[in-house]
Amino acid sequence: MYLYGASGHAKVILDILRDQGISIHGLFDDDTSIQELQGIQIIKSFYKLLEIPLIISIGDNRQRKRVAEKLIDVQFGNAVHSSAIISKTATIGFGSVIMQGSVIQAEVVIGNHAIINTGASVDHDCIIDDFVSISPHATLCGSVKIGEGTHVCAGAVIIPNIEVGKWCTIGAGAVVIRDVPDYAVLTGVPAKIIKYSSLIM
Ligand SMILES: CC(C)(COP(=O)(O)OP(=O)(O)OC[C@H]1O[C@@H](n2cnc3c(N)ncnc32)[C@H](O)[C@@H]1OP(=O)(O)O)[C@@H](O)C(=O)NCCC(=O)NCCS
Repeated sequence: MYLYGASGHAKVILDILRDQGISIHGLFDDDTSIQELQGIQIIKSFYKLLEIPLIISIGDNRQRKRVAEKLIDVQFGNAVHSSAIISKTATIGFGSVIMQGSVIQAEVVIGNHAIINTGASVDHDCIIDDFVSISPHATLCGSVKIGEGTHVCAGAVIIPNIEVGKWCTIGAGAVVIRDVPDYAVLTGVPAKIIKYSSLIM
């Protein structure tokens, strides 16, 4: 596996890959000042990348999408920790990362380049679009839909059947009880919109 992005998020993915016994062939990063991460050299060029799959190891959803759009003809891999509990009826897209202790229940659909972070709980029939990040210990109840690029922050709860739009931010600890429009930023219990993101994708 190759990784793109020598960040803190990459360190967690490295742990997951090691847990799975998957070899790490190298790391890329746009920041030319970074030389290595945990002893793995940063590769400076894409020359002859590519029979080996790659994961974009960037936690920021927008940056992850920007990198994905420039990686043409790349085969993307997954990192799934052995402690995650995943229903056999769930589907997970390419480039997505499933971290330690998360639970993904029946008939969940997870898109591409998504992050299901430590201890997150995704209940039955949830649909999670591409470039979404579900942060540590967030809870999605059954049949929740999360639009592209949305960040559900640490410990947030979304009650059943809620639809969250694209590129939203659900603040840490928020409890979402109503549908959420695209680009909204919410906090609190019950969650209220405090602003809209100005970073349109
Ligand atoms: C929601 C969030 C993204 C907003 O960040 P921001 O746009 O920088 O917002 P600010 O810090 O300027 O806060 C704006 C207001 O919302 C309040 N607020 C911010 N986050 C809040 C939260 N999680 N719960 C309740 N209120 C919150 C602030 O107190 C502030 O209120 P004020 O205007 O009355 O002073 C951020 O606060 C948050 O919850 N981050 C969690 C990130 C996370 O979980 N990362 C996990 C990575 S693995």
